[in-house]
Amino acid sequence: MTTPHIRDFHPDDLDGILHLWEQSRASGAEPVYALSEVVASCQIDHAVVATLGDRIVGAAVGRAAHAQGWIVFFATDPAVATDRDAAVGPTIGARMLAALERHMAPLGLSRLSALMPESEASLDDFAAQGFELKRNLRYVERELPVQREELVVLRELGGRILARGLWDGVGGMQREKEMLELRLVTPLAQPDLAERFGVVPPRAVMLFGPPGTGKTTFAKAIASRLEWSFVEVFPSRLAGDPKGLAGALRETFQKISELEHAVVFIDEVEEIASHRQGEPPSPTQGVTNELLKLIPEFREQSGRLLICATNFIRSLDTAFLRHGRFDYVVPIGLPDTGARRSIWSSYLPRDVAAAVDVDLLVEHTAGFTPADIEFAARKASQAALERALHPDVGAAVSAENQGPLTDDYLVAVTSTRRTVSDEVAAEFLEDIDRIARL
Ligand SMILES: Nc1ncnc2c1ncn2[C@@H]1O[C@H](COP(=O)(O)OP(=O)(O)OP(=O)(O)O)[C@@H](O)[C@H]1O
Ligand SMILES: [Mg+2]
Repeated sequence: MTTPHIRDFHPDDLDGILHLWEQSRASGAEPVYALSEVVASCQIDHAVVATLGDRIVGAAVGRAAHAQGWIVFFATDPAVATDRDAAVGPTIGARMLAALERHMAPLGLSRLSALMPESEASLDDFAAQGFELKRNLRYVERELPVQREELVVLRELGGRILARGLWDGVGGMQREKEMLELRLVTPLAQPDLAERFGVVPPRAVMLFGPPGTGKTTFAKAIASRLEWSFVEVFPSRLAGDPKGLAGALRETFQKISELEHAVVFIDEVEEIASHRQGEPPSPTQGVTNELLKLIPEFREQSGRLLICATNFIRSLDTAFLRHGRFDYVVPIGLPDTGARRSIWSSYLPRDVAAAVDVDLLVEHTAGFTPADIEFAARKASQAALERALHPDVGAAVSAENQGPLTDDYLVAVTSTRRTVSDEVAAEFLEDIDRIARL
């Protein structure tokens, strides 16, 4: 049989490389580099092929990363590879590796490496070419949530990829977290599982509750948990758009549909979706209508979730909330003890935290919003600082009086007015009864 010829890659060889790629996939080995990466390296990096007549029977493709070179694709046609035993001298594989190394030599690389499936049969070719098998290495990879093509759209929308771990950072609120985990996160993150059980993943949810209870925090935490881009739509910012608010809103949603995955957040949605009434109609009515039209279109696309939040659920247009638009209408109430503990802890200076009776503060701040807690914490800190600077006003500055004490916090708590009055808290409970949908 004739010996394959080794030569540099030529653009016409791509079909042959694709064929080899498919062959190696079919053999059950998961290639480390994606086909697009291999093709890119053929075109702009370094590649050699083995030919038999006009057939491509082998390929070795490499790229340089600083001083280290990587072989991103290496394959020989199995039919030819079996024949090679009959051949004398180096195998096709070893010859291709030698040719690739020569090709990359001018780069002055310090080493050339290859990652391969455990089942890789061509180790001998590598050994023949002086490659050493490294033991005790593991390969890990992480699929990054947002692909490069999306970044431009994301930037135009002012969207971002949030830090991982925001979900775990939401303290307490166990009931809400569990509910959101089961109803939103699981079906969205595991659509195959949802389909198996006949669950249709939600497309839109409304969060409502008194100010400062963590609605925005939850919206961001959900995006972080799903590892989806977070896009906040600010109707007030769209108002200045020459196309008008409704037109700008439509355009924004159109752009959002170009993203693979997204959590879209509209805060204070009552501003654009309150009761449609009055003669002449209010200027926001066109926007409300636009949003009513946009939601059904939005619902048809998978991989995205609309989260709206409001402090005034009862002021929303009834058409806006009806079934079919929002899958769930979720109350987010005042922080529970677990949430208050986590919020308090985040505001205690590190050096005094251990000495402060956090449980007592948690107990004395039932009904406080996170912002109320922050306010009281800052007030206590300021008072303690002033006392330390003016020893004659209070106790003398001493080693153990360098920071706020539990008493400072309790005094500050007593003099802090709760944002959410009993009346508002009672209205919220009524809203849960009348409007919540879980
Ligand atoms: N469960 C929680 N654990 C820790 N911090 C929290 C929690 N809930 C809220 N916070 C903190 O409280 C502050 C207010 O929360 P957030 O802005 O999410 O409230 P909101 O309901 O969106 O308020 P608004 O109705 O005013 O928009 C934020 O600084 C947030 O980090
Ligand atoms: Mg908010």
